[in-house]
Amino acid sequence: MALVKWNDSYSVQNVAMDKQHQHLFDLINELHDAMGQGKGKDVLPKVFVNLVNYTQTHFADEEALLQKHSYPGLVVQKRQHADLITQVSELIKKFETGDFAASQKTRDFLKQWLIDHIQEHDKKYGTFLNQKGIH
Ligand SMILES: [Fe+2]
Repeated sequence: MALVKWNDSYSVQNVAMDKQHQHLFDLINELHDAMGQGKGKDVLPKVFVNLVNYTQTHFADEEALLQKHSYPGLVVQKRQHADLITQVSELIKKFETGDFAASQKTRDFLKQWLIDHIQEHDKKYGTFLNQKGIH
């Protein structure tokens, strides 16, 4: 069963970013499912790599979009994104040394971080872009 389900309350009113956020939710659910099925060291690292790679791609796309439109909150966005990547990388390192609980922490941390970040920060750029006629 899905851990997080995207709905309109998570929309940042930008089609491309909503799509990428939805895909991130999907990848978190995939991680959750893999863990629920007791998939161990063989499968989880791949799921982690996919999740982290896609997160980085998404952050790069989001930052490029905000840069293109001179979004004033870009510096805060960049800092938040970099912090998240650092924290997740540390959790994954723990997992790789055999700390299975670290995968649960990563899943729960990412889920909550993403929800909070979208609600608190990403929605602000959505409003900003919409005012410029960008959706
Ligand atoms: Fe963001």
